[in-house]
Amino acid sequence: MSRKILVTSALPYANGSIHLGHLVEYIQTDIWVRYQKMQGNECHYVCADDTHGTPIMLRAEKEGITPEQLIDRVWHEHKADFDGFHVEFDHYGSTNSNETREFAERIYLRLRDEARLIEKRSIEQFYDPVKQMFLPDRFIKGECPKCHAKDQYGDNCEACGATYAPTELINPYSAVSGAQPERRNSDHYFFRLSDPRCQEFLRGWTTSGSLQPEAANKMQEWLGGEGENKLSDWDISRDAPYFGFKIPGTEDKYFYVWLDAPVGYMGSFRQLCSLPSPAGGRGAGGEGVPIDFDAFWDKEKAAQEKTELYHFIGKDILYFHALFWPAMLQNAGFRTPTKLFAHGFLTVNGEKMSKSRGTFITAKSYIDHIKNTEYLRYYYAAKLNGTMEDTDLNLDDFVTKVNSDLVGKYINIVSRCASILNKYFSGVVLAENPQALVASRGYSMIAYGSDEEIKELFESREFGKATREIMRLVDLINQRIDQDKPWNIAKDPSKHAELHLLISDCINAFRIITYYMAPILPETARRVAELLTLPYPLKWVDLDRPITQINPYQHLMIRLDPKLIEAMVAANQESLKPMPESHSQQRHAEHQQHAIAPVAETISIDDFSKVDLRVAKIVNAEHVEGAEKLLKLTLDIGEAQPRTVFAGIKSAYDPEKLKGRMTVMVANLAPRKMKFGLSEGMVLAASGEAPGLFILSPDEGAQPGMRIK
Ligand code: MSP
Ligand code: ZN
Repeated sequence: MSRKILVTSALPYANGSIHLGHLVEYIQTDIWVRYQKMQGNECHYVCADDTHGTPIMLRAEKEGITPEQLIDRVWHEHKADFDGFHVEFDHYGSTNSNETREFAERIYLRLRDEARLIEKRSIEQFYDPVKQMFLPDRFIKGECPKCHAKDQYGDNCEACGATYAPTELINPYSAVSGAQPERRNSDHYFFRLSDPRCQEFLRGWTTSGSLQPEAANKMQEWLGGEGENKLSDWDISRDAPYFGFKIPGTEDKYFYVWLDAPVGYMGSFRQLCSLPSPAGGRGAGGEGVPIDFDAFWDKEKAAQEKTELYHFIGKDILYFHALFWPAMLQNAGFRTPTKLFAHGFLTVNGEKMSKSRGTFITAKSYIDHIKNTEYLRYYYAAKLNGTMEDTDLNLDDFVTKVNSDLVGKYINIVSRCASILNKYFSGVVLAENPQALVASRGYSMIAYGSDEEIKELFESREFGKATREIMRLVDLINQRIDQDKPWNIAKDPSKHAELHLLISDCINAFRIITYYMAPILPETARRVAELLTLPYPLKWVDLDRPITQINPYQHLMIRLDPKLIEAMVAANQESLKPMPESHSQQRHAEHQQHAIAPVAETISIDDFSKVDLRVAKIVNAEHVEGAEKLLKLTLDIGEAQPRTVFAGIKSAYDPEKLKGRMTVMVANLAPRKMKFGLSEGMVLAASGEAPGLFILSPDEGAQPGMRIK
């Protein structure tokens, strides 16, 4: 009987780009889900953007847009990144949805009214009197109480590594406004995790096999020994202003982002349940059969129907998923997760991803530079196991492995055989039969041999072992081709019957290997399916279904050029260093007076027309007290109110001489909050390697507000 499985990946925050670290999780989950679907299981994979909280609210403000606009834009960016890496969610939602709101409220009300696990308490916190908001720890800075380093965050010191409470900082200030924070009292709502019922339940849950051994150990540590009560109550509310859901029964309290984030799993799945089922149905669900939400989430129904729920998460968020989340579900009448699959962190070349080294690589930049995302899927698969260990992406090893394993071994089989089959036998594949297999010395027998083992390795998320086993088979097959030398046999027309059997068997071996590879390389598998005329989507039950005909061979994969990696790393480095002033550049300037920076990447006219350039009249220009580089300009572009723009041109211009002249500004740049005030655009200026800065002026006759295009 087919299993009924719901799988999630952690919901990425909507205030940052997807990067290669995130992809360790999403690729890993996607491989497992694709494997389950290939097995014929009913498997649903949902995820969503995690959209609430202070950082998102402040970022939107800084960009001069609403949080809704910000999360909408980021949703599309994230979705494009996931599509690019073939991470195929059945639904990708947002926590800022009605569904998530309803479940968050329902859970909260059940916890409050039925389980009686919610308590209101007044607590004292830092408050920014200028910005009029309570400050999360991360938004308070000050001097480290231990080593006295300046400008450290409210939760830990980057200089000496000390951790402390923000109240311990010396001379604290708000990172939002710079103001000195005040202490203020406010009512907060707590989930009483310290209640004996929660403790008891979590002890049971920890030892019920829902966690990997390392995670279970962590939990024991957090829970303490029998009779100990180490869990504190959890503050689930935040004061206005906050971007999130208002707590029912309150005027101005919001759910803390981590309360509604995991509820987003339910919200996104709820949306999937009301979407029309795709052609071909969903796993065993069948076409047109809607998914039953309760079968996956209601405590009783889930037990009856034996549905399974798995959360893939990073080890940094184990605490939320192993303590708060199951305790919330349990006490609100919902089912608890079958298992949590926690993984480690990505390192690049053995170190933490780093912006200055260019190893903090975004998904988009990988797509732009390397294009083929299956390379990375394969490399991660080759490195992953079912533990919480970190995963290293060694960029040299990446190139070597992809080129030798994928192109040099796997694709090599088909590129050698398909051409012979097409050339001499019009692509006709002889049926497999015992005689044929013996005659051709059993290529496909090699491939069939590891079916069960590979299945088990995928199921237990031992993807590294699975790829090694697949590569072992591929090596055996290639060795055999080397021995048999079909290209030599081809020279002797009297041996063509033998050759046809051999090559047919060889193609079948490649077909079987492709089934094994399909969860990892879905795009290649799709193209192989076209080439070999396989039933698609690939299902494991078709593993021994013979093929009779192949199509003309087209290149399936090209080698990865290490230069692409270099360019990608360089791009990630540069884009984060706004003003590169390296020695090499200075040295260069001496020899080459008029060195012109290489022209940037080609853009379309649509890209260009996004930039709204206007003729601006400088109605006022003045020095800014305390600013080394900036002048404050007041610009008329024909609007009711003139704009204020801070421009870094102090070194080159006397403000008095600027007054009254015309120039050019970018009028639709998001306003930027600077130390000295809000800057509402940008003026353009030319500069080269030699000192000097030159603002632009239009020809006589141009009027303020005219568009430049
Ligand atoms: N929004 C929360 C999750 C809420 S789930 C109800 C969050 N978001 S995140 O964007 O920071 O991370 C999303 C997932 O990516 C997490 O599981 C996190 O562990 C994982 N990773 C983020 N950076 C990572 C690496 N550098 N390496 C491996 N996984 C990483 O946490
Ligand atoms: Zn310190």
